Amino acid sequence: MVKIGRIRENLPADIVMKGLGKQYPGTATAAVEGVDVTVAAGEVLCIVGASGCGKSTVLRMVAGFEEVTSGTLSVATEPVSGPGPDRGVVFQDYGLFPWLTVAENIAYGPRQARLQRPVVAERTEQALEAVGLTRVSGSFPHQLSGGMQQRVAIARVLANKPSVLLMDEPFGALDALTRVEMQHELQRIQRAAGITVLFVTHSIEEAVYLGDRVMVMAGGTAHGMPGHVREIVDVDLPPDRDASSPEFNAIERHVDGLVHAGHAVRS
Ligand SMILES: Nc1ncnc2c1ncn2[C@@H]1O[C@H](COP(=O)(O)OP(=O)(O)OP(=O)(O)O)[C@@H](O)[C@H]1O
Ligand SMILES: [Mg+2]
Repeated sequence: MVKIGRIRENLPADIVMKGLGKQYPGTATAAVEGVDVTVAAGEVLCIVGASGCGKSTVLRMVAGFEEVTSGTLSVATEPVSGPGPDRGVVFQDYGLFPWLTVAENIAYGPRQARLQRPVVAERTEQALEAVGLTRVSGSFPHQLSGGMQQRVAIARVLANKPSVLLMDEPFGALDALTRVEMQHELQRIQRAAGITVLFVTHSIEEAVYLGDRVMVMAGGTAHGMPGHVREIVDVDLPPDRDASSPEFNAIERHVDGLVHAGHAVRS
């Protein structure tokens, strides 16, 4: 049995957070404090934790949308100083341009990057293929189901050939069946392209299913304490996981216990 953990050790670090923190202007308590984690290239790190513990804040700092206020953060050895096409962001609301077709939405990034026409066309075609949407390339977003729109959102990011994919509850609005389909899709794409993924979710099962590791956060300004990492759990299971196996359930229960443990406890 191949252990994900062993694979990870051979890969170079991709995202390095050292004592990473964020205090929003005008607030008394930091939203996030002291996050220390190194994410390897090609690793999937899922982030779970109660509402307000700072999951999105961490993701937004990595995306370059929020300034870091303490500690350091680098991606591919470069300190993060703003957004960039190397980091693709997919949120729960698809954020597609309604007036553009599926293909035009996907081509948008490469066009903005002023890539040559044939390159834009090739990237668009590849991204469409990767998410299985070639047949609807001429449709507009409103003509698609939620799952398909989320696929377009992922394809749009893939067209920029990012090394890091940042996903904030990307499947939260989907029905259960589509959600499972999208989890498989993401896994397939991630493995094929070897992309590093930070994946925020409220579903512990989803986190254990997708993650090489699960970072459990706790605290939050609503609890009068900065959001922080409670524990990083190694998901030492084979790549194609059986969510009904005892091994899977044991990890799920452990993560669940960490998420729901009293907020006063700090690791
Ligand atoms: N722009 C902002 N200005 C001030 N405070 C903010 C801002 N954005 C977030 N916060 C605060 O920072 C804390 C962490 O918020 P964040 O959105 O990162 O939490 P989260 O873990 O993603 O929560 P959820 O699970 O509800 O999405 C919260 O207390 C929130 O109110
Ligand atoms: Mg959030």
